[in-house]
Amino acid sequence: QQPFLIAPSILSADLARLGDDVNDVLNAGADLIHFDVMDNHYVPNLTFGPAICKALRDYGIQCPIDVHLMVKPVDRIIPDFAKAGANIITFHPEASEHIDRSLQLIRDNGCQAGLVFNPATPLHYLDYVMDKIDVILLMSVNPGFGGQAFIPSTLDKLREVRRRIVQSGRNIRLEVDGGVKINNIAEIAQAGADMFVAGSAIFDQADYKAVIDQMRKELSK
Ligand code: DX5
Ligand code: ZN
Repeated sequence: QQPFLIAPSILSADLARLGDDVNDVLNAGADLIHFDVMDNHYVPNLTFGPAICKALRDYGIQCPIDVHLMVKPVDRIIPDFAKAGANIITFHPEASEHIDRSLQLIRDNGCQAGLVFNPATPLHYLDYVMDKIDVILLMSVNPGFGGQAFIPSTLDKLREVRRRIVQSGRNIRLEVDGGVKINNIAEIAQAGADMFVAGSAIFDQADYKAVIDQMRKELSK
């Protein structure tokens, strides 16, 4: 298995001093940044677009940026995020009219591509596109807000997706997003996840390094 990755969600960062807060969390040991894009249409909240992604790059942020699109439509914003410095772009399949085309568009723009599944979204969207996928993101909360509780049925779903990844023989990341904390990260890893988004668990604490160290300790159990 690939090494575990911890991806703080900047949704819970101090947005008035975003560049510094991202630097702080990277210095605390984060592997990459999770960038939640909400459009007040696909989800009932509004966050940030490509300009903020580019601003982080211009500020000197060099880590991989994992862009989680919670938008509808999907396609027209993809090239803008690629140009703004995204490395990974994931979207919700039910928000795209043409899933294969959206995945190909992400790849053609030089980024890694992935699908995101809400807690009740079925996995059949994976059936014909495993060869175009680099990341599968399972939502363990309903998308739109940080600070919600982890939905336990995600664990079975993770096991099922891990089985499909093994069967595909491909190096596909299995990412989990929502309610990930120090006290459940080990169980989530055991179910098959290898990339962990955490927003409030990290940014709501004063000592980011202490949280990330604890998470890695749990992951090494
Ligand atoms: C929710 C977002 C998550 C959110 C996670 O729609 O996709 O990335 O920031 O926040 P926590 O870790 O606080 O559940
Ligand atoms: Zn997210």
